[in-house]
Amino acid sequence: MNITNDIFYVGVNDHEIDLFEGQYIVPNGMSYNSYIILDEKIAVMDTVDANFGEEWLNNIKKVLNGKIPSYLIIQHMEPDHSANITTFMKAFPQTTIVASAMAFQMMKKLYGNDYSENRIVIKENDSLNLGTHSLTFLSAAMVHWPEVMFTYDNKDKVLFSADGFGKFGALDIEEEWDCEARRYYFGIVGKFGNNVQTLLKKAKKLEINTICPLHGPILNENLNHYLEKYDIWSSYNIESEGVMVAYTSVYGNTKKAALTLQRLLIEKGVKKVVLCDLQRDDMAEAVEDAFRYGKLILASPTYNSSIFPHMREFINELISHNYQNRTIALVENGLWAPTANKVMRSMLENLTNVNILDQTATINGSVDETAGEQLNKLVEEIIKA
Ligand code: FEO
Repeated sequence: MNITNDIFYVGVNDHEIDLFEGQYIVPNGMSYNSYIILDEKIAVMDTVDANFGEEWLNNIKKVLNGKIPSYLIIQHMEPDHSANITTFMKAFPQTTIVASAMAFQMMKKLYGNDYSENRIVIKENDSLNLGTHSLTFLSAAMVHWPEVMFTYDNKDKVLFSADGFGKFGALDIEEEWDCEARRYYFGIVGKFGNNVQTLLKKAKKLEINTICPLHGPILNENLNHYLEKYDIWSSYNIESEGVMVAYTSVYGNTKKAALTLQRLLIEKGVKKVVLCDLQRDDMAEAVEDAFRYGKLILASPTYNSSIFPHMREFINELISHNYQNRTIALVENGLWAPTANKVMRSMLENLTNVNILDQTATINGSVDETAGEQLNKLVEEIIKA
């Protein structure tokens, strides 16, 4: 696949993977992208996952058509992109590896070799001349690993963006970008919003025609759409108006409260209400939705004098992903000693700029009239907030 006259796609699609990075379901598979820049000197950009070394090398050889690459540029050392460095260097031993100092340290630890005789160590703003193409390297530290570099091709105005602007899903399946890119972003990069913001400021100074990420499609139209999404996501701004109701339920009573909340919210004019069963729905999707909307209602039974395990997991996910700038309301269920609201509040209260409403609701077993009144009041308060 040609990206420009001189830049070619040589990545692979993975439809065998069960869990990406050991935790994310990827119903439409995953792509591990790699690129070649053909110039007086030839550069290969990153490798692919361990299971695809042979297919990737074949892709490369087809594009090379007998030519020999000068450089293997490593932007990111996570094994989904670095696992075939050794394979590549066996196939093309005369190649020079180009990477950050930290990437070479990781290479030694992961693969037993840091190619000290055969390498160029790059840092922020260094450049590499291939002939007509000149590459400039930008540090993308902690997006989402510390060694990451982005690469900008000054000739074709291409930004090679490592995991940035990546997306779940293989390239041989067509699907909308936003949803799976958002789930990918908040799962994998979401904690590091400040670092992404730093990078976006650098990107603003560049004229960019094409973004080549290490996962997902090559972006070459309407780039403002993707840049705007990344700006909203990384600044923890609200992307869509709406309320998310995330619940856990043992015998269906807390679920009934969640459904009541959904009905009341819609009746009172909320256009978008997202209901999430934390025991059954994808946790990464739940995290994504919590960041997408500005208001969140959590409903949990009291369990082991605390909260239900899946609610604990969800709140911990929010905390570890730097959840902020949002409004939260709490609903508990407890037949004899309801404590879930107190526990949820104590877990959430140190988050940055999160408003936890004083108005809560307590269900004592079933959604009776008293509980219904509390839910109604809580809905009024969260709409006002
Ligand atoms: Fe796609 Fe951070 O590896």
